[in-house]
Amino acid sequence: MEIQLWRNILCPYELAVRELVVKFEHLIDEHHRHDMYSPIESVSGRVKSVSSILEKMQRKSIPLERMEEEVEDIAGVRIICQFEEDIETVASIIAGRQDMQIKSEKDYLKHIKQSGYRSYHLIIYYTVETLEGPKRLQAEIQIRTMAMNFWATIEHSLQYKYKGDMPPHVTDRLSKAADAIISLDQEMSAVRSEIMDAQNSSLMQSNIVRDILTCIENLYKVTSQREVMKIQDEFLRIYATKDFEQLQRFHRQLDIIAEGYHVQAV
Ligand code: GTP
Ligand code: MG
Repeated sequence: MEIQLWRNILCPYELAVRELVVKFEHLIDEHHRHDMYSPIESVSGRVKSVSSILEKMQRKSIPLERMEEEVEDIAGVRIICQFEEDIETVASIIAGRQDMQIKSEKDYLKHIKQSGYRSYHLIIYYTVETLEGPKRLQAEIQIRTMAMNFWATIEHSLQYKYKGDMPPHVTDRLSKAADAIISLDQEMSAVRSEIMDAQNSSLMQSNIVRDILTCIENLYKVTSQREVMKIQDEFLRIYATKDFEQLQRFHRQLDIIAEGYHVQAV
């Protein structure tokens, strides 16, 4: 095929990759703007080189006229997450979008490749607008953690170096490294839930304090100042102990008192 023709064929794929990267970057921004943790850490994309396309077509005996159907990764986007749990979140965000239709998925997390490769892949249909009108094309989205990406990058360079003929001692090392990456992701996931727990309990604590203060304020209107001062002092004493359970108990007791006066906070 002529060089000019390749350019024409690849042009909409260039556009697709650029649009997809912008869209996923925007998702990161949206999360941050809402003070939310973003399941996407970073995004990158590339259009497959002509030589890689030709290599793949040769390897898989794909005729030229079937190229766009059968080479599903001409447009490729890689999404990097911090934690393994985020991968599922990202996949469901993609599944819920109107501008991307999922054609197929490959779950190399559940089914780890022989090499040790772990990643979650989606082939999507995506439409770009061209001079000739809308063009629906395919793109491959790889979703993986930073740790998985580290392993895949190193392994890919080694594959390239040894051109498919990797010596057993290297394969062995890579396999051990892949196991270490699994443990690393698990350890990080354990830390993740601790971070989430800490965030949750701090949110719960601030909600309880807010409720208690509203309750005390309401009690001011219906009972003696002396009584309310006593309650307030007790609240300050418990608050100073930083004991969340004591605070919860106090909140319940206060609720009962307030109920008697029909002035509950919530
Ligand atoms: P390719 O022809 O390599 O694209 O494979 P495929 O179309 O049969 O699909 P597959 O799911 O096997 O691989 C898709 C992509 O995942 C590859 O292009 C690589 O980017 C990545 N990949 C798959 N297996 C490995 C692996 O063992 N090591 C590394 N580093 N990457 C892999
Ligand atoms: Mg590929």
